[in-house]
Amino acid sequence: MPDSQRRKPATRKAATPKRLDQRSAPSSRYRLQKSIPDPHSLIPALAPDEIARLKEQLEMAFAAQAEGPRPEARPFLKWVGGKSSLLPQLDELFPKEIDRYFEPFLGGGAVFFHLKHRSPRLRAYLRDSNRELINCYRVVRDRPVELMLLLDHHARLFREEGADYFYAIRKQHDLTDDLARAARTIFLNKTCFNGLWRVNAKGEFNTPVGSSKNPGLYDRDNLLACSLALRDAQLEAEDFRQAVAEARRGDFIYFDPPYLPISAFSDFKRYTADQFREADQIELAQAFRELDAKGCRLAFSNSEHPRTRELYAGFAMHVSVRHPATTWNKV
Ligand SMILES: C[S@@+](CC[C@H](N)C(=O)[O-])C[C@H]1O[C@@H](n2cnc3c(N)ncnc32)[C@H](O)[C@@H]1O
Repeated sequence: MPDSQRRKPATRKAATPKRLDQRSAPSSRYRLQKSIPDPHSLIPALAPDEIARLKEQLEMAFAAQAEGPRPEARPFLKWVGGKSSLLPQLDELFPKEIDRYFEPFLGGGAVFFHLKHRSPRLRAYLRDSNRELINCYRVVRDRPVELMLLLDHHARLFREEGADYFYAIRKQHDLTDDLARAARTIFLNKTCFNGLWRVNAKGEFNTPVGSSKNPGLYDRDNLLACSLALRDAQLEAEDFRQAVAEARRGDFIYFDPPYLPISAFSDFKRYTADQFREADQIELAQAFRELDAKGCRLAFSNSEHPRTRELYAGFAMHVSVRHPATTWNKV
């Protein structure tokens, strides 16, 4: 049965995105704009010398941060299941020394950014099956300054045009330029309902617009810190089954997959077009045991459920009090 039928209004009323169906069609100005061939043509409101001046300012800030003591980067996206609030507890369960770090379900990257700050020499192998997400990380790593200029442009037009602009950008599913795709992903993430990354069966983003009229799309210093933290990270859009193939004895791997639903209405699994099913949870638990047998150091978070307890039986289990996450580890 489709999820939409399974959810009952009595319990999910607040999350029902009615505005999606009720929206009038975006204005024709946007309907004509099918794709963005050249990201720089997106900044028509700025004169070329203004762009050059802004670029110079950002590059100076970037150079200053690269040389000075680095602040801890925080996730630049809102991500369902983000682990920022759990970091102090997770830290206790993680190894003190990490050389090679694998994170196959990267999401908002809270754990990676934290560990990279703690162990700057750590080599990171970051993976997620969401291609738009991984592209976004690559652009943050490689082209932060241009990305910020494009985001400023999106922010300006969103303030002027509101929801029409959101829906015009949302339907640009066919963008091919990496920079434009990354700016679109961040823009949609920060302006959509609750930062929820939800896609239809074709993999097209379909979360409705959120309520904020003037959301901050990025924090300059933080985006620069993220870019620096990612500088030597290896990023691939991959399924978890491939993601850990290279792991060897002594590597640390943190798994934070979509949770096994604890209620029939749970939306945790709806990150990508391919939902994360129970069969995936079972394969993941098998992979976890194989990696353990190889001598990898491991941690895994999920919901506290009889099935997860069964799948990870034999590993140390740590229930988090204030957050609906339980972590199993062997480090
Ligand atoms: C719980 S989130 C990770 C949250 C992350 N730890 C954070 O702090 O933001 C789960 C992630 O798994 C990804 N994912 C879903 N199915 C996957 C699969 N089969 N292989 C790899 N990644 C997958 C989703 O795109 C999502 O970003």
